[in-house]
Amino acid sequence: QKGGFKHFMLKEILEEPDVIVEALRGRIKNGEIEIPELDFDKNYFKNINQVYFVACGTAYHAGLVGKYLVEKYLNIPAQAEVASEFRYRNPVIDERTLVFVVSQSGETADTLAALRLAKEKKAKTIGIVNVVGSSVAREVDKVVYIHAGPEIAVASTKAYVAQVEVITLSILHLAKIIDKLNEANEKLFVEEFQKLEGFAREILENKEEIASFVSTTKNIEETFFIGRNLDYALSLEGALKLKEIAYVHAEGYPAGELKHGPLALITPNSLVIAIDTFTPLSDKTISNIKEVKARGGKVLAIAKKDNTRIKEVADSVFYIPNVLDDLTPIITVIPLQLFAYYMADARGLDIDKPRNLAKSVTVE
Ligand code: F6R
Repeated sequence: QKGGFKHFMLKEILEEPDVIVEALRGRIKNGEIEIPELDFDKNYFKNINQVYFVACGTAYHAGLVGKYLVEKYLNIPAQAEVASEFRYRNPVIDERTLVFVVSQSGETADTLAALRLAKEKKAKTIGIVNVVGSSVAREVDKVVYIHAGPEIAVASTKAYVAQVEVITLSILHLAKIIDKLNEANEKLFVEEFQKLEGFAREILENKEEIASFVSTTKNIEETFFIGRNLDYALSLEGALKLKEIAYVHAEGYPAGELKHGPLALITPNSLVIAIDTFTPLSDKTISNIKEVKARGGKVLAIAKKDNTRIKEVADSVFYIPNVLDDLTPIITVIPLQLFAYYMADARGLDIDKPRNLAKSVTVE
């Protein structure tokens, strides 16, 4: 069942290049991005004045990527929020609000309740879902399946990759409907989407680099993941994975916030995973890495190959291919997942079934 792999989690990470291809299938045709499920016309969209992403855990982190991209490409105010908060306040939404509901299982109790609340308030809803025919899939106005295949390990890996990819494609598709994506930009995205499978394979071929790094860090008890913009969204996901399967306390933090508190915790025993793949803010992140180094902290950076400055400041660097900035989360998450996996394995833990957790959280 595990296809010869030690754990489902590793098997599912190794499936990611294929998942990337499956999520794209039928969504790029004749050089154009098109999500047939989202067959809105311009008028439908004319009145949308805010966008929400509502989800839990890893799916919420995928939604956070969506928030940045909606602001950038649709130019509409956007928020991402965990479903258990959204459902118990008074979110000010109405028929001009578009709510993306993101869920691998489509059965998460809080996510489903948030969806029902959004519908009660007449918001328009789109589901980004893996399990076909699940409750979320049935109750949203429009569902876009991510086609990641069954995910068995409790820790979500390949579903995140497909969620981010499908959310990105959906936003670009909506941008086209409202004339906010020009032809040149669309062409660029189409080309870059097609490179992702190869990029993911390249990262996986180098997975032993991460495994060997872990041999020096397996006993740490605390770590920070830092990044800016999309790298910040990734830092939250990297930290969640490490907590959940390796039982190491980890915090995802906006790199620029370090000096507003957590820098006090940095000592020569600290490990910081610095994610520096979002080129426009790379200089800023490098300054933050220097702040950590000045306190003696150890830094593992994840950076693109063309990042020439990073090796001067970080202790170790894991290089990823030169992916388009707005698509980085889809492949940068892979080394973060591998780091958590190898840490948990080095600590001899039950990776596919972490303590206290269930795959599908159908009760509150
Ligand atoms: C983390 C993880 C959870 C889920 C969350 C939402 O690895 O798996 O955080 O992402 O429980 O589940 P779904 O996507 O099924 O709604």
